[in-house]
Amino acid sequence: MEAFATAIEASALGGFARQSAWAYPFANLVHLLGLVLLIGGIGIVDLRLAGAFRALPLRALSRALTPLAIAGLGCMAVSGPMLFAADAAALVRSDRFAWKLGLIVIALANAALFRLLWREGEEEPALPLRIMAVTSIGLWLTVAALGRLIAYA
Ligand code: HEM
Repeated sequence: MEAFATAIEASALGGFARQSAWAYPFANLVHLLGLVLLIGGIGIVDLRLAGAFRALPLRALSRALTPLAIAGLGCMAVSGPMLFAADAAALVRSDRFAWKLGLIVIALANAALFRLLWREGEEEPALPLRIMAVTSIGLWLTVAALGRLIAYA
């Protein structure tokens, strides 16, 4: 893993991310925009699934906000590697970065399983689905916190 990270850091992308005056700040901005769309979008849907905002129709809310959350994930998937390439060798030694990537995989698996189990017309999902929604909020907030705390390690 160290050799892979060292190669990424020495690559053209790594060099560009470090030397360009705007590349890293722009990638960081896209990363934060992605965070807002992801947690803003899926957070509201998860809170509704968990039982909040009962006056809001769940299906309509999910159809409106899920695409925003997916766009947010796209922003993370595009900007994250640029941020990673700039400082890869140090980041692969970071426990916070490792936990962050691990929790992203768990959060995505939780979301995929939820979509398999949830019948979209259901306005009041059963308890296990509500527990998955609360878990989703907890996982994405922890990923975000770990992302911010990487720089302080
Ligand atoms: C998909 C969900 C993700 C979330 C919610 C997330 C969240 C965050 C947050 C909140 C920050 C701090 C930004 C700042 O302080 O300006 C951050 C930084 C970072 N993220 Fe992510 N991120 C995600 C995915 C990724 C991925 C897929 C990668 C890499 C492949 C990545 C790599 C990084 C790096 C390298 C940093 C900079 C750490 C530093 O300050 O040195 N992130 N992330």
